[in-house]
Amino acid sequence: MDLKLAQVKQDKRIKTFIWQTDKYLDALGYTDHGGRHINIVAERARSLAKKIGLNQQDQELAAIAGYCHDMGNFLGRDQHHYWAALLFSQCYLRDYEPLAVSTVAQAIVSHDKYDLKIVNKVTAVLILADKSDVHRSRVREKNRRRLKEDIHDRVNYSVISNDLLVRLAKKEIILKLKVDTKITDPLEYFEIFIDRMSFCRLAAEYLGYQFVLMINNFKLS
Ligand SMILES: [Fe+2]
Ligand SMILES: [Fe+2]
Repeated sequence: MDLKLAQVKQDKRIKTFIWQTDKYLDALGYTDHGGRHINIVAERARSLAKKIGLNQQDQELAAIAGYCHDMGNFLGRDQHHYWAALLFSQCYLRDYEPLAVSTVAQAIVSHDKYDLKIVNKVTAVLILADKSDVHRSRVREKNRRRLKEDIHDRVNYSVISNDLLVRLAKKEIILKLKVDTKITDPLEYFEIFIDRMSFCRLAAEYLGYQFVLMINNFKLS
């Protein structure tokens, strides 16, 4: 039997890791890495995988990786990608196809790895789905009053709309953002997101696409 996202979402162990992570990162003052973020990343990964023509199983694996990729944060922020992959493997390696489980685990580990080397499409899709999620709804309600103090909250809050588009004919993956420049200067965006954007560029290139960033209709590629 193949592992499906719907089943992973009902798994009490996964629910607990996600709940613990949200509680931990809330205490540290981080932006949302819980239900909102992981559902967006899972759906974005599935939709991107489908648009670029990955098969049904890889679409499902990309969605599962999207849902589980941040659940290791409660064991430590710095290595959270490794923790999440290990937790995922512990839950499913015994009863499911090792190739599928290890593909998800590898994608999860790679989503935040500095010595990144992408060797499969599920990994590349997860990176694009995760690193493109910047939006004002990621800023926790209680932190919206202190935007001046925190650059991550400020930059996320400045993003009013966010679309990840695929132009098959031009072989482009486009992250289209609308940014309220009264809240942040676009330069601040680059200050904190330069790493994320280079992850996206590498991932798009691996898939055979060019990554394009559009901020307020200004195209950067
Ligand atoms: Fe992460
Ligand atoms: Fe994430």
